Amino acid sequence: MKAVRIHRHGGPEVLIYEEIEVPKPGPGEILVRNRAAGVNFTDIYARTGFLYELDLPTVLGKEGAGEVLAVGDAVAEFAVGDRVAYTETMGAYAEQTVVPAHYAVHIPAALSYETAAASMLKGLTAQYLVRHTFRVEPGQTVLVHAAAGGVGLILAQWANHLGATVIGTAGSAEKVELALQNGCHHVVNYREEDFVAKVQEITKGEGCHVVYDGVGKNVAKGSLDCQRPRGYYVNFGWASGPVDPIDPMDLIRKGSLYVTSPGLTLYLAKRDDVVANAHELFDVILSASVKIRTHAILPLMEAAEAHRQLQSRGIIGSIVLRP
Ligand SMILES: NC(=O)c1ccc[n+]([C@@H]2O[C@H](COP(=O)([O-])OP(=O)(O)OC[C@H]3O[C@@H](n4cnc5c(N)ncnc54)[C@H](OP(=O)(O)O)[C@@H]3O)[C@@H](O)[C@H]2O)c1
Repeated sequence: MKAVRIHRHGGPEVLIYEEIEVPKPGPGEILVRNRAAGVNFTDIYARTGFLYELDLPTVLGKEGAGEVLAVGDAVAEFAVGDRVAYTETMGAYAEQTVVPAHYAVHIPAALSYETAAASMLKGLTAQYLVRHTFRVEPGQTVLVHAAAGGVGLILAQWANHLGATVIGTAGSAEKVELALQNGCHHVVNYREEDFVAKVQEITKGEGCHVVYDGVGKNVAKGSLDCQRPRGYYVNFGWASGPVDPIDPMDLIRKGSLYVTSPGLTLYLAKRDDVVANAHELFDVILSASVKIRTHAILPLMEAAEAHRQLQSRGIIGSIVLRP
């Protein structure tokens, strides 16, 4: 079968489209014929070796959807032919992927493979951020950085759906417009304007209850100045680079703030949570409270081009590969 692997860490050029052996599902695993695979910033970290080094060569991609082709021993929930989506499994940039049944869910008939693949990792991330890390309530004010990005668009719409006033940041006029149409009440172009001053102006100096930050280095310091007393700074990604150390003494000076850096894996540690969180995600998508915007669907062999576009801030919403 065809797959996109890396044999060493590096730029987009290390993504190689090549023939590899079809993997076999072991106990507790299923083999999925991928119809669509999502591309995520996390895949760029994996490609470059940021955060952790991988055993190489390896197939990239942590989000996909398709049909079950085979089931391993001790798998009761899935059968051959089932329509499924999955995340948290390296190997989605391929025609077929072995997936732990723990991380797979059935997808509703009304959900396309493309939408499912574009929303499993990003949507389940948005789900835990607004429902578990900091539970968004009506009347709160929420700041979402990169609000026109894959996770950002979903987060902003979901926070809006929960009744919050949503302020977004985005890096171009086109992205500002899209974010305004998708959940944000206010959007600041943070490449042109001082987002801290704008947030203070919009909130009349009150600040936000929570800041969701997938951008990291370039906005971390300013984000602490966008919060109200006892506000939460949730740093869940590092698109602009790792965050500089935060002095705990600053947290009391700036108003008894909370800081956390959460990851999806721990929020999906229990099988019941994978199923329940995915149901919540599919519910908000099918009720159109959250719309999944697919920026482009590219053939699998163009994975390197997808990475170039994502890394250069050229994507609005999600980009999907079709094996
Ligand atoms: N912790 C978790 O559980 C978890 C799970 C999934 C994803 N994430 C994180 O969530 C974030 C968003 O992921 P995504 O896949 O949806 O990506 P994305 O938001 O579609 O892309 C990243 C965005 O970051 C912004 N950005 C700001 N400075 C940048 C820079 N120097 N280089 C590149 N981009 C920059 C860009 O938007 P503007 O042009 O509008 O600034 C860009 O579109 C990533 O940091 C990812 O690692 C975390």
